[in-house]
Amino acid sequence: MGNKATIGIEDKNYEFDFVKGSEGEVAIDISSLRNKSNVITIDPGFKNTGSCKSAITFLDGEKGILRYRGYSIEELAENADFLEVAYLLIFGNLPNQEQLDQFLFDIKEVSIVDEDLKKILESFPKSAHPMGILSSLTSALVSFNPSVADIDSKEEMYSAIIKILAKVPIIVAWVYRKGKGLSLGYGDYSLGYVENITKMMFKRPNKEYIQNDIIVSAINKLLILHADHEQNCSTSTVRIVGSSHAGLFASVSAGISALWGRLHGGANQAVIEMLESIEKDGGDTKKFMAKAKDKSDPFRLMGFGHRVYKNFDPRAKIIKIEADKVLNELGIKDSILEIAKGLEKEALSDHYFIDRKLYPNVDFYSGIIYKALEIPNEMFTVMFALGRLPGWIAQWKEMREMKDPIGRPRQIYIGENHRSFVDLELR
Ligand code: SDX
Repeated sequence: MGNKATIGIEDKNYEFDFVKGSEGEVAIDISSLRNKSNVITIDPGFKNTGSCKSAITFLDGEKGILRYRGYSIEELAENADFLEVAYLLIFGNLPNQEQLDQFLFDIKEVSIVDEDLKKILESFPKSAHPMGILSSLTSALVSFNPSVADIDSKEEMYSAIIKILAKVPIIVAWVYRKGKGLSLGYGDYSLGYVENITKMMFKRPNKEYIQNDIIVSAINKLLILHADHEQNCSTSTVRIVGSSHAGLFASVSAGISALWGRLHGGANQAVIEMLESIEKDGGDTKKFMAKAKDKSDPFRLMGFGHRVYKNFDPRAKIIKIEADKVLNELGIKDSILEIAKGLEKEALSDHYFIDRKLYPNVDFYSGIIYKALEIPNEMFTVMFALGRLPGWIAQWKEMREMKDPIGRPRQIYIGENHRSFVDLELR
């Protein structure tokens, strides 16, 4: 490959530099295209367009590779604690014991939420979707922590990071407990990060809480697997909102809303609803496979397909094994796990899916574990957001530290040409 890209427009050729990544990826830097040629590019869904340079997460969609700061997702899921992974994503390296202890201490010190936030929570109707509540309360946190609105120094950045990591889990627990009609409490200062989240969610007011290590381990692994995924829809939202210098909490609140969509994080809820409807319909997976392939039918096989992965999503492989393990250890038999496995088996031998390289993604099996932990379907995407929080933080921090320009795409106008105003009585 030469050291310049050439684009010919009409009778002129324009040259552009290549940008090469540390894993051999190559991009054409077209930042001077419009100035040179008065022409722009257009790429709906940004399928061929990079928005930034990033050192946080590497994906190889063809090979099904996912790495956080160079560490494979398989090794991290097997060996790490979620808070270690959060530290790795945000600060770039795995913490030593002293750094991890200090990080957890700093988080614990601010693990409280203003009681008035409960009044906002109580004002939501019982029918409110947990993702809408989570996004609203995350944004509302700024009103109770005004110092996080404007981040201009390393100290202010660290303080905002610690606060959002401390307070969002409390809100997640409150949203879960409100749905169950349970009292809203605080964590246990003596516990680790994931242990504390689990206790905040599952502690019953009328009996002593006994930690179930199977549940803590499963949640730890699921949070790690969801922690970051380069420039997905919600992370791109966090970056572009943050590029206007909106605060971290406001940017994450926007990311939560983007994740809510059923084509993105909302798919984990949609998968379980799909599997439950297949079971209710008699378990005829072939009928639903046919619907998924029928272009006239809006039905899609939720939890299948991915913009980047054209091979197995490595996270889906891990979660599938974890689902079997957790259900066995908890002594739960769930017929929809068998339906999911049956769908996967059929899809992987069906040319429609093979030709389009559609494989199970992170959302296909995760809901089966959440269901086994008695987490309601509507809370599944909230659990996804809890896992993705450190990734959003890391990406937002990188965008601000790299001083990326405000995100403001161009467009191609296809509307009316100039026309003069016509008085009402003449229309
Ligand atoms: C997440 O980006 C990320 O990294 C996201 C994520 C993360 O960690 O942040 O990994 C999390 O969002 C995972 C994806 C969860 N969404 C779903 O499971 C919803 C179901 N999947 C699809 O809607 C779809 O696969 C997307 C949205 C995930 C990807 O869509 P693309 O890349 O825009 O692909 P496409 O819609 O253009 O599909 C290409 C073809 C089309 O058929 P043809 O027009 O070529 O005939 O594949 C078909 C689609 O109709 N297709 C499906 C399908 N997914 C794609 N057909 C049936 N069922 C599906 N699930």
